[in-house]
Amino acid sequence: MNIKISDNIDWVGYVDWTVRDFHGYETARGATYNAYLVRDEKTALIDTVKRPFADALLANVAAVVDLGDVDYVVCNHAEPDHAGALPRVMAAMPHAELVCNKRCAAALARHADTSGWKIRIVDNDAISLGGRTLQFIDTPMVHWPESMFTYLPEDRILFSMDAFGQHYATSQRFDDEVSAAVALDEAKTYYANIVMPYGRQVAAVLDKAAALPIDLIAPSHGIVWRSHVADILAAYRDWSTCRARPKVVVIYDTMWDATGEMARAIHEGASQPGVEAVLIHVRLSNLTRIAAEMLDVAAVAFGSSTLNRGMMPMAAAVLNYLEGLRPANKAGFAFGSYGWGTGGAEAVHGWLESQKWDILREPLRVQYRPTPDVLDECRRAGRLLAERARSATAER
Ligand code: FEO
Repeated sequence: MNIKISDNIDWVGYVDWTVRDFHGYETARGATYNAYLVRDEKTALIDTVKRPFADALLANVAAVVDLGDVDYVVCNHAEPDHAGALPRVMAAMPHAELVCNKRCAAALARHADTSGWKIRIVDNDAISLGGRTLQFIDTPMVHWPESMFTYLPEDRILFSMDAFGQHYATSQRFDDEVSAAVALDEAKTYYANIVMPYGRQVAAVLDKAAALPIDLIAPSHGIVWRSHVADILAAYRDWSTCRARPKVVVIYDTMWDATGEMARAIHEGASQPGVEAVLIHVRLSNLTRIAAEMLDVAAVAFGSSTLNRGMMPMAAAVLNYLEGLRPANKAGFAFGSYGWGTGGAEAVHGWLESQKWDILREPLRVQYRPTPDVLDECRRAGRLLAERARSATAER
């Protein structure tokens, strides 16, 4: 399957309809690994696919050109979902030069035997294909140190690698052929789970992109942005700073539902006009969805029952995951019930402090079951979250 992106530019990637676990990322809508073929006086393949899908990629390219006529294979990113097929591709395209930056060449040599490949190192410079130019732009840490964009000025197309991507399997290739809301939501989930730790680097990349006239953004995952280029660029600006919406998350794990009762009362208090209040039981959700909710939240109540003098294990897993993703500019407090020994809410509180969240109150704790008075206190604490969400977003 190859699909025309523009004159003499074809999508030649692979749609992975059935993948649901992408190194722990729950890909509820599947995924795609996008590769693009640009034909001019010279022909360039931009990126490849995961190793198991090399045959599909080669068939897509062969449907358009003879494999021996491909002059360049550009590697924007050495991660195996885009570079895993390179050994097969380089063997099948005997005249092709691999084009990448120095860091990428070093990373590829750690993944495969690259000794027989012709490699052209680029450093923010350009290659002429004849009437068209491939202009390379380093974008370190979006997503790996060697990541780069390839820009085609004559067509105003930005091949943006992971940036602006989404895990979204569809037979369509453009944003205006699918629900834009779904595409943006999947882009947000992708950003939260893959790119969130690198907000500063994303801001630098956006500054570079702002200097380029762009008609199409062609990422390496999901659909191509054509009608919503300004929307996805604006969304990335917001996400790069974890800009808060008027939103509260109450998230918890519970043993005999005492912490669950507290969570529901906090959520009730937080459910105020103009504030979105989200309630999440960590064992009935998943890390991928939780990360997406944390990207644009203003205030969070995080609860855990005490188990063995500490947090419940899935509550700890969520905090461990969030510690790596480093959501910025968050406020919140800890809560939870305990039995004969304490430790759950205290451990959550310690985590919030360690991550330098703005702590809105001392941990809200109760022994065994919450009384009506405690539930009233939970509702008051929920209203505190809502007030914080309103004030944080009013400051924008
Ligand atoms: Fe889609 Fe960072 O690889």
